[in-house]
Amino acid sequence: MQIHPTIAGLRAALADARHQARVAFVPTMGNLHDGHIGLMRKAREHADVVVASIFVNRLQFGPNEDFDNYPRTFKDDCARLADAGVDHLFAPDEKEMYPTPQRYHVEPDPAHTDILDGAARPGHFRGMATVVLKLLNIVRPQAALFGKKDYQQLMIIRNMVGEFALPIDIVAGETRRADDGLALSSRNGYLSAAERAEAPRLNRQLRRIGERVAAGERDFLRLETEAVAELAAHGWHPDYISIRRRSDLHPPHAGDESLVVLGAARLGATRLIDNLEI
Ligand code: PAF
Repeated sequence: MQIHPTIAGLRAALADARHQARVAFVPTMGNLHDGHIGLMRKAREHADVVVASIFVNRLQFGPNEDFDNYPRTFKDDCARLADAGVDHLFAPDEKEMYPTPQRYHVEPDPAHTDILDGAARPGHFRGMATVVLKLLNIVRPQAALFGKKDYQQLMIIRNMVGEFALPIDIVAGETRRADDGLALSSRNGYLSAAERAEAPRLNRQLRRIGERVAAGERDFLRLETEAVAELAAHGWHPDYISIRRRSDLHPPHAGDESLVVLGAARLGATRLIDNLEI
């Protein structure tokens, strides 16, 4: 695997390949787990050349969020990426990505950003969309892969790529889970042993809602309220449990069939998110 700290270096390395080969790209912020590695392997199904990036993007962190403490495990990440058959790793530092303060930003539709996760994280999706657009311009892949775990992120990226007519297939990877159902996440490492044992409850609540909807239950508010109460009763601080349309994550109209239930809740100091297409 070739490691490129600069945009020019990556572009030079890809210049020859891109004429004959399809390039697939998986952006990450590092601290890689099996979910990321699954995306790298899936990328190989879509392309001859697989490019990953590691960049902890300051723009998508709020002032009280964990940017400084975000786990940085570059050496281990490189070993895992090489093992997964990644061809090129783009690993810029902040000066390379943001040589001057970024003054131009992607402003996604507030109807997509100011809901669910965005409601608790003002500016997060603006910063995320800005760096993703920049990374896509740098790598210029034919396909880019994102995990369904960050469902709102995936929805915003799909809309951004569609509205800017970028010639890139956005491919979604299924959420990878531990055996007890907990969605894999870099933030799981923050959980104490007791919190780790409790953490799968979020996924159990989402699955329970999925089963009840599949069985014909249509009182969504009741299902959501019951799940919130169940989590709160076990020491969680739920932000939301919400059944939404998959396309724009707005509340469904009667008859909408393509749904997803999303949840976010704090367990101790760690905020966990999960979702399930239902
Ligand atoms: O999902 C992530 O890890 C980040 O939001 C992304 C897409 C790499 C942008 O910084």
